[in-house]
Amino acid sequence: MAQGEKVIVCDKLTKRFGDFIATNEITFEVNKGEIFGFLGANGAGKTTAMRMLCGLSTPSSGKASIAGFDVYTQTEQIKRNIGYMSQKFSLYENLTVKENIEFFGGIYGLTDQQIETKTEELLNRLGLKSEAKKLVGSLPLGWKQKLSFSVAILHEPKIVFLDEPTGGVDPVTRRQFWDLIYEAAERGITIFVTTHYMDEAEYCNRISIMVDGRIEVLDSPTNLKRSFGVSSMDEVFYQLARSAKRGD
Ligand SMILES: Nc1ncnc2c1ncn2[C@@H]1O[C@H](COP(=O)(O)OP(=O)(O)OP(=O)(O)O)[C@@H](O)[C@H]1O
Ligand SMILES: [Mg+2]
Repeated sequence: MAQGEKVIVCDKLTKRFGDFIATNEITFEVNKGEIFGFLGANGAGKTTAMRMLCGLSTPSSGKASIAGFDVYTQTEQIKRNIGYMSQKFSLYENLTVKENIEFFGGIYGLTDQQIETKTEELLNRLGLKSEAKKLVGSLPLGWKQKLSFSVAILHEPKIVFLDEPTGGVDPVTRRQFWDLIYEAAERGITIFVTTHYMDEAEYCNRISIMVDGRIEVLDSPTNLKRSFGVSSMDEVFYQLARSAKRGD
């Protein structure tokens, strides 16, 4: 991999809804192969920002390029080069596990042969072979999330955007989910992930924390804890929220 290759470059990217500024001049870069955590309290503007980066929502102002493509003019190219797991669950509940994989393989433009190989691989990797013919709606949430992630990277995208991929599941299942994330990162897929779980923040190479539409801090978890003089990411988050309320 090219040293220092930037796959996300974002410069003062802004989204307004009427008078309200949901994402306010966010500026940052993400390196190829990085696991980048995109944190912030409810309503901070994470999903809004992520949708712009995925080419799903037109920015109000600012610039961004994703895998070298422009978020205003090259959204089709962006969509072909990324995977996206939305905050609202994105698989079809009334299709079987196998049918979902086949359906998304088709959307991503894989050939029948590729879809067949990928389906086999994926069912094996997830240990879902005996569930292949079950409706996705009947699976436990953790399985749906793992399947949803695997489907989002079926076409080996350059970057995968994960919007709270592990919300609502137990710690063991979340840990298994992160094993899948690490595997993908090792293959060179850049991971852009939002989470409200601070243990997950620790798994990221770098994280940013948004407060009211702005990115307030951005660094590695270790450096953030050091600069706040605390021992946990929970404390970093808490101190940041407190100082934001005081208007520091
Ligand atoms: N289409 C829209 N029209 C008006 N306001 C919106 C729209 N979409 C989002 N917002 C507002 O923008 C703000 C940021 O929302 P966003 O969904 O980006 O937050 P978030 O950080 O993803 O929060 P959460 O952690 O709860 O998912 C919220 O106040 C939300 O109500
Ligand atoms: Mg959100």
